[in-house]
Amino acid sequence: MSDASFPDKLVDKFGRHIDYIRLSVTDRCDFRCVYCMTEDMTFLPRKQILSLEELYQVARAFTELGVKKIRLTGGEPMVRTDVMSLIEKLGALPGLKELLLTTNGAQLDKYAAPLKAAGVNRINISIDSLDAERFKRISRVGKLEKVLAGINAAISQGFERIRLNSVVMRGYNQDEVLALSDYAIARGIDIAFIEEMPLGEASDHAREETTCSNDWVREQIEQKYQLVNSASRTAGPSRYMQLVDHQSRIGFISPVTHNFCEDCNRVRVTVEGRLLLCLGNEHSVDLRAILRDESKTHDDLKRALIASMDIKPERHFFYDKDHAQPVRLMNMTGG
Ligand code: GTP
Ligand code: 5AD
Ligand code: SF4
Repeated sequence: MSDASFPDKLVDKFGRHIDYIRLSVTDRCDFRCVYCMTEDMTFLPRKQILSLEELYQVARAFTELGVKKIRLTGGEPMVRTDVMSLIEKLGALPGLKELLLTTNGAQLDKYAAPLKAAGVNRINISIDSLDAERFKRISRVGKLEKVLAGINAAISQGFERIRLNSVVMRGYNQDEVLALSDYAIARGIDIAFIEEMPLGEASDHAREETTCSNDWVREQIEQKYQLVNSASRTAGPSRYMQLVDHQSRIGFISPVTHNFCEDCNRVRVTVEGRLLLCLGNEHSVDLRAILRDESKTHDDLKRALIASMDIKPERHFFYDKDHAQPVRLMNMTGG
């Protein structure tokens, strides 16, 4: 229970209010996307990962400290056995305003309805190509038709908002920016274009050669559509532009070309229970050690979350030779 001796919000030493948690529920995935994983991944053994109960306890501690938004990430969240039981409990957490999911969409045809019923507000679905062969090249194993069925299922459930996420990479899908936009616009849903981040080594390509700047992506879209600045935000890193005469918004997530750390409001918890204070740095706190230490209480966990605010770095430095680059792949980081 919340206690008067605890603050009602988490604030880091740069004055940023942290109210968004990205909670990874698994490092596993049924896809092997080229920007996220190597082809032959080894995954964590079960005893190293947080149980569903431990994940819930972490989420509860954060909400007791004023966190309003939890996004479940992975790997692919929906491959975790019994993940729906966790999502149902999170949906009932007092104080939580937004329960969100980032998914590859492959199982949404089955799960869209129970996710809606559990209280999930918004879903972000990754899709990098509308061509089945290419989709397979990028995801290495994914089936485009399953994802398209998942997107349709999510739309038919009437979530508050659905956003597609596309990582644009030269040599893979840079010529599909307009086709992906058209697809989202025709369905009245949003789409965000993401610059590929140098998180770990990509095994199939050199990231410096494939990364496309979002300024370039925007020029492609403007060849067909009129975009106007939009003040709307989803309290994530995306900057949105509204399409004139259409319902959809186009989001731009530009961690490589436009550092957006100044107004960062988020931290991540990996499935190993490592609280990562920044996607692009290694500063972290071992929450699993606290959770599994019988001498420690729920209040100790909360004190650790409060103390962690002092080590949240000011910013990330992708592709900056003067700064060490992250060695963690995205599936270990949690999206
Ligand atoms: P909304 O709540 O809809 O705004 O979602 P979101 O953009 O916060 O979440 P999503 O999981 O869809 O993330 C989209 C991309 O943004 C992913 O590639 C994330 O890794 C990236 N991203 C999210 N938060 C951060 C961050 O703090 N720093 C960096 N560099 N990238 C981030
Ligand atoms: N750079 C940028 N985005 C990435 N994602 C995974 N790995 C990377 C990377 N290296 C994206 C996925 C998904 C989101 C959670 O993270 O496409 O949309
Ligand atoms: Fe914030 Fe770190 Fe993300 Fe930058 S990389 S936006 S500091 S969490």
